[in-house]
Amino acid sequence: MLPTKVSIFEVGARDGLQNEAPVTTADKLTLIQQLADAGVKRIEAGSFVSPKWVPQMADSDAVFQQLKHQINRQSGVVYSALTPNLKGFELALAAGADEVAIFGAASESFSQKNINCSIDESIARFIPLIEQAKKHNIAVRGYVSCVLGCPYEGHINVSEVARVSEILYQMGCYEISLGDTIGVGTPTDARKMVEAVANVVPVDKLALHFHDTYGQALANILACLETGVSVFDTSVAGLGGCPYAKGASGNLATEDLVYMLHGMGIDTGIDLAKLALAGDTISRALGRTNGSKVANAIRA
Ligand code: HMG
Ligand code: MG
Repeated sequence: MLPTKVSIFEVGARDGLQNEAPVTTADKLTLIQQLADAGVKRIEAGSFVSPKWVPQMADSDAVFQQLKHQINRQSGVVYSALTPNLKGFELALAAGADEVAIFGAASESFSQKNINCSIDESIARFIPLIEQAKKHNIAVRGYVSCVLGCPYEGHINVSEVARVSEILYQMGCYEISLGDTIGVGTPTDARKMVEAVANVVPVDKLALHFHDTYGQALANILACLETGVSVFDTSVAGLGGCPYAKGASGNLATEDLVYMLHGMGIDTGIDLAKLALAGDTISRALGRTNGSKVANAIRA
């Protein structure tokens, strides 16, 4: 059965902008404000990672500090931060992030390239982070990368995706986001992967995070909707990619998913016209065209 309501987790300000030319902190805050104005309730606003590795996110502290003190801050919006280790968590906490996300991988090679450690080492680093998060009542989300393929290893076994997902869930992540980091998956494999992970993590605790490199993301989501997953990570205007996955394009454009879901009678709580405005504004700041087909169509 299809869900009647879907939750969109907007990653444009983090996953999107981490792999675009740098924009100003003011541009990021405008984007985040316009997303909130459009009705987006879950916004990943930045990451606390090494500024040497990802300079585009070096101003995340300023972004969260300003969100914390924002007079017209939308109520009910959760601003989330990506944090790889305890240091990142402490910075996110001090800056006022509402929740954090840790990120592991189902591929050893990707783990090494992305966070400079093995899968097991990354899990060991997450333990003190989760302990501190519990102490401070901060919810922790868990990402698993390379769930449908790896830029270095190619095929990834679903058993490894399920193993890492189960560990992150058992450690205390309230939701596990399954990332097709390089967007290579196709619908049948995507559905099989979700079904395998749903054997070890309740399906209502799963989210799907599909990059759209091969144009498969929307089809993959449609194929997975009937499994019971109802949380999807998307990026307004299809911004971004991944700095450690060469050739990977941005996430599925939020506008494209919202249009499809509304057309199917599934509620998102998002105003599509206002969402497209947010995508147009940040695309202009970046000097690039809007990567959402729907945004371009409704403007035409
Ligand atoms: P490392 O070099 O192994 O760490 O990096 P280290 O502990 O040896 O520390 C080295 C330096 O980094 C030290 O500074 C630390 O203080 C500093 P120095 O003494 O040289 O001046 N450092 C930090 N600085 C700021 N924030 C921190 C932090 N931790 C250490 N949290 C590290 C390890 C994880 C930090 C590094 O590899 C890193 O930052 N990697 C970037 C990872 C990243 O942001 N990748 C993109 C996001 S993941 C993604 O996009 C996938 C996802 O979207 C899902 C999907 O699509 O599949 C989530
Ligand atoms: Mg991603």
